[in-house]
Amino acid sequence: MSIKFLRQQFLLLITGVFLVFVLLACQRAPIAESPTPTATPVTERTIANNQLPVAYPDKELSASPAQLSELPYADNALEKAIDAETMKLHHDRHHAAYVNNLNEALQKYPELKNRSVEAMLRDLNSIPEDIRQTVRNNGGGHLNHTIFWQLMSPDGGGQPTGEIAQQINQTFGSFDAFRKQFNEAGGDRFGSGWVWLVRNGQNQLQIVTTPNQDNPITDGLYPIMGNDVWEHAYYLRYQNRRAEYLNNWWNVVNWPEINRRLQAASRQQS
Ligand SMILES: [Fe+2]
Repeated sequence: MSIKFLRQQFLLLITGVFLVFVLLACQRAPIAESPTPTATPVTERTIANNQLPVAYPDKELSASPAQLSELPYADNALEKAIDAETMKLHHDRHHAAYVNNLNEALQKYPELKNRSVEAMLRDLNSIPEDIRQTVRNNGGGHLNHTIFWQLMSPDGGGQPTGEIAQQINQTFGSFDAFRKQFNEAGGDRFGSGWVWLVRNGQNQLQIVTTPNQDNPITDGLYPIMGNDVWEHAYYLRYQNRRAEYLNNWWNVVNWPEINRRLQAASRQQS
């Protein structure tokens, strides 16, 4: 291959590039002004209950992989209601098992790990049938317990404060009436499950119960607070006396956290 041939090829290439450039410059249409994006004000959005973060007031639970967070207090910090051994077993064994089982089930469908635990529980029909019940039980177990640990505090108990106190009074007449209804609902939940205070689709407070590890978001309800009435939550100290456990549980209820959940929900609802 001669130098003369290479030079000719190079000149042809340069000429071609120049012609293409000229052609594009001639045909270039004026750039239209991009409309300034206008964010829809929050007040104009319609946000359903099932779009709110649930595990925490401001974020959802990751499934890539699901992880067991530490208890926000010592095992013996809630002795006013729950003994240290129960807390340790409940968190380190039961909650951990839900996390591990969920991760194991999702191994077969790695694309699901891009979704939050809440997103899967809101739309269980979208989960492959062979792992649907496993996700329901263990994703629910992970979510429910993540909420539950935050709803209790060594400094908890006493009368409700803030906005939740007002809403409880408006809805149930008084805190005592609310507590009585909540305890009765928890006592009546046959077998294993949860008792919840939720915000329903009409933005009203309501007491509901769920079986097993179901979370209210599967029914379009937003959990403001809830108590675990599985035997593993109370049996070491209370044996079969669930009513006594339900009654003592109010000694550790974390009202500031419950207010944070209520406020987060209200902000996004308004
Ligand atoms: Fe539990």
